[in-house]
Amino acid sequence: MEERPLILVTGANGQLGQSFRFCAPAFKDVDMVFLDRSQLDISNAKHCRKTLEHWMPDIVINCAAYTNVEKAEDEPEAAMMQNGTAPAFLAVACALTGAHLIHFSTDYVFDGNQSTAYVESDAVAPISAYGSSKLSGERGVISSGCEHWIFRVAWLYSPFAHNFYKTMLRFGKDRPELKVVADQWGAPTNAIVLANDILHVCCKWLFDDNWDMPTGIYHYAHSGKTTWHGFASEIIMKSGLSTPVVPVTSADFPTKARRPMFSLLDASLFFEKSGCASIDWKTALDRCIQTHHDIDNLRQ
Ligand SMILES: NC(=O)c1ccc[n+]([C@@H]2O[C@H](COP(=O)([O-])OP(=O)(O)OC[C@H]3O[C@@H](n4cnc5c(N)ncnc54)[C@H](OP(=O)(O)O)[C@@H]3O)[C@@H](O)[C@H]2O)c1
Repeated sequence: MEERPLILVTGANGQLGQSFRFCAPAFKDVDMVFLDRSQLDISNAKHCRKTLEHWMPDIVINCAAYTNVEKAEDEPEAAMMQNGTAPAFLAVACALTGAHLIHFSTDYVFDGNQSTAYVESDAVAPISAYGSSKLSGERGVISSGCEHWIFRVAWLYSPFAHNFYKTMLRFGKDRPELKVVADQWGAPTNAIVLANDILHVCCKWLFDDNWDMPTGIYHYAHSGKTTWHGFASEIIMKSGLSTPVVPVTSADFPTKARRPMFSLLDASLFFEKSGCASIDWKTALDRCIQTHHDIDNLRQ
């Protein structure tokens, strides 16, 4: 019997890892294995190599990362280890075993001073410890020599783990009003739609000899743009809540980490190469709310 392709997912208990897990059953022509940090700590180079030698996956999807942007300012070395050094360990193991690596990076590699959406070739200039660590991870993956796609994503949300969408739903039920910054721009991205599109391109890469998407960096985002305030207002309205959402400025909410004021990623290269259909951020939010209801109903 012919062996089926294997996709191995790291950081499987995080938001994006759980989104891949949720999408996996629809991709019936591949096997997938999901490893959380206790099963594969990507900051251990030997463990990366041994694990990949054991599973010999065709594709590795790296969802493991240090994602606490505020805490990274206090412990930049830890962020650099997990986001800068560890992806290189995984990438070297991929190069040794012949696996194709899919890695995720961020809009935080940019300073946010542009007024048009960032393309892949725009100059990087991180303004936070988290952004610097993620940029270092991109460079480590590229210099490992493994075949890879690096997807820069921004403003991820889903029904899983911790994210802005879930926080707004909780606050919208618990608090008399919400104050949300209205001067940072971006495109909220449904992590389940992202995972589904990535698995779609994985299958094209595995099964269609006439299709190729060259190794390199790709931006992924839904179309349209909004502010965190615009996003929060849409979440509250579409969830049937009536909590007032008050616009405030970033200056009203001082944080340790500086954030890019403008985070829009131009994803046209990915959609052109992949053949996936781009959707706007409001449609993506509708889908998340529907999926969230479906999951809650299944649990009852
Ligand atoms: N969330 C966003 O808005 C956003 C925006 C731009 C880019 N991204 C990128 O998208 C990717 C996925 O993010 P996410 O939202 O899914 O983050 P997440 O929910 O914080 O998940 C990250 C996962 O990685 C695990 N992890 C951390 N260090 C590890 C290690 N050394 N070995 C194995 N697992 C480890 C964490 O485990 P523990 O829980 O045990 O720490 C956690 O389960 C990341 O690369 C992130 O930088 C996210």
